[in-house]
This record gives sequence, structure tokens and C-alpha cells, in this order.
Amino acid sequence: MLRKSLVIGLGLAVFAFGFSSVSVVADSRASVKRAMSKPQYRGSIVFKAYCALCHGERGDGVARATKLYGMVNLVIKPNTKEYYNAVVREGGASVGKSELMPPWGDELTEEQINDVIAYLYGVGDPVQRGEAVFKTNCILCHGIKGDGTGRAAKLYDPPPANLTRSNKNDDYKKMIITYGGKAMGRSEFMPVWGEQLSKQEIEDVVQYLRTILVIPPSK
Ligand code: HEC
Ligand code: HEC
Repeated sequence: MLRKSLVIGLGLAVFAFGFSSVSVVADSRASVKRAMSKPQYRGSIVFKAYCALCHGERGDGVARATKLYGMVNLVIKPNTKEYYNAVVREGGASVGKSELMPPWGDELTEEQINDVIAYLYGVGDPVQRGEAVFKTNCILCHGIKGDGTGRAAKLYDPPPANLTRSNKNDDYKKMIITYGGKAMGRSEFMPVWGEQLSKQEIEDVVQYLRTILVIPPSK
């Protein structure tokens, strides 16, 4: 009993300390957490780690490992939740498909499986893939809406760009995302993403950025 209240007390103290130091970092973690509360964004991370090797980043079966599977078709076609659940949890054999599709029920958590299934519905759409890339990598600075008001924005001068009002074209965006701000004569605090994100992910996030523009894209 005593020990229990001690633990609770300690927990509260840590909690209070966390609050009193309402730092930008704690704040931004909260905003990232909120954005990540959508299953499909978390699912994009699971998909990248466990599925893209065989199915390709677009779920279209174009991937490094594809050649190893010869005749098997690795395209993920639109289907019902029940079907996805069966094939992902129990493996290909459970739905009469190749047993080279492993069962994931033991390897992934319940949450990861539900998340990755939510992501499967958007995996064929560049804008939805790009949104997941944006929401998992960029919002700390550029904000959930991309308007430059992320929780860490106040740390930077010049501030993270308002991407809803960017007057830069897709090629420029691809360059600054791939090589970072410094290489483009801009702020060094716009990070280099070329090593962390694939070409496909950068293409996708640029497609997504088009959709959040409140002014038409420039030529
Ligand atoms: C080692 C390679 C490999 C990995 C890794 C892999 N798969 Fe598969 N997947 C396959 C194969 C092979 C098939 C069966 C294709 C066939 O028989 O037509 C398949 C089939 C599927 C299907 C059914 C597609 C359809 O349209 O019928 C889904 C959905 C699927 N996989 C999802 C996933 C998910 C989600 C992951 C990651 C958690 C994953 N796969 C990881 C190889 C893989
Ligand atoms: C650590 C903070 C930070 C993160 C994270 C970040 N950016 Fe930036 N970004 C900036 C800053 C700061 C600028 C403004 C640079 C300047 O004006 O010199 C910028 C500028 C840009 C621009 C130029 C826009 C224009 O109109 O000129 C694009 C495009 C961009 N960022 C995209 C992204 C994408 C996509 C991601 C995620 C993959 C991302 N940024 C993540 C800080 C960040």
C-alpha cells in the first residue's frame, strides 16, 4: 500500500515536472502523437518495415525481392477487411494464395496489424502515401496543416515555410527535400531527407504538398 502510493506520488511528481517545463519538445511530442493517432500513418511505418520489401512501396509488387518470387503476383488488390485480416494474420495459404506470404499474427502486435490493414487501403494512392510521409516526418516544424506552425517552428529563424502558400514548383520542392535547405542556399534547419526517405516517398510527399496548396501551383 505504502509502496503503491509512493510510486503514484513519484509518478505525479514526474508528471508535474514534465508540465512545469512545458518545453517545446514535450509540446511537439504531443502534437506528433496526435497526428500519429490515425492508424494509417502508423500503418505506413509498419508497411515500410515489414511489407515493402516484397510488395513494393506502392503495393504494386515492384520491389527488390519481387524477382525472387518468379511467377507469384505481389500486387495488393483492393479487398475487404475480412480478407486482409485473414491473409495478413494467417498467411497466404489461408486464402488459397502462395504460402510465400508469411503469417504475421505472431510477429506483429494487434495494433500493428490493424494499422497496416488500414494503410493497405491507401497504399495505391500517391497522395495518401505522401500524406503519411508528411505526417510522420514533417509536422514537427511545418505543422499538421503544413502552414508552418509546427510545435518546433518557433525554434527557427527563418521559420519553417508555409507549405500551403509555397510559390516553388515540384522540382524545387523535390530538390530541397532531398538535399536539404543548406544545399539550396536556404536555412540549414530544413533537413536533408535524401538518405532517410526513398525517391518514391519524396515523389509522394511532393504530390501531397500539391493538394494542400491554397493557391494554384506555379509553373
Ligand atoms: C517475403 C515476401 C512477403 C512479405 C514480406 C509480405 N508479403 Fe504479402 N504476399 C506475399 C506473397 C508471395 C503473396 C501471395 C501472392 C499470390 O499468391 O498471389 C502475398 C499476398 C498478400 C496479400 C493478398 C494480396 C491480394 O490482392 O490477394 C496481402 C493483402 C498482403 N500480402 C499483405 C502483406 C502485408 C500487410 C505485409 C507486411 C506485414 C506483407 N504482405 C508482407 C509475399 C510477402
Ligand atoms: C527541423 C525542422 C524542419 C523539418 C522537420 C522539415 N522542415 Fe521543411 N523547412 C524547414 C525550414 C526552417 C524551412 C525554411 C527554409 C528557409 O526559408 O530558408 C523549410 C522549407 C521547406 C520547403 C521549401 C518551401 C518553399 O516554399 O520554399 C519545403 C518544400 C519543405 N521544407 C518541405 C519539407 C518536408 C516535405 C519535410 C518532411 C519530409 C520537411 N520540410 C521537414 C524546416 C523543417
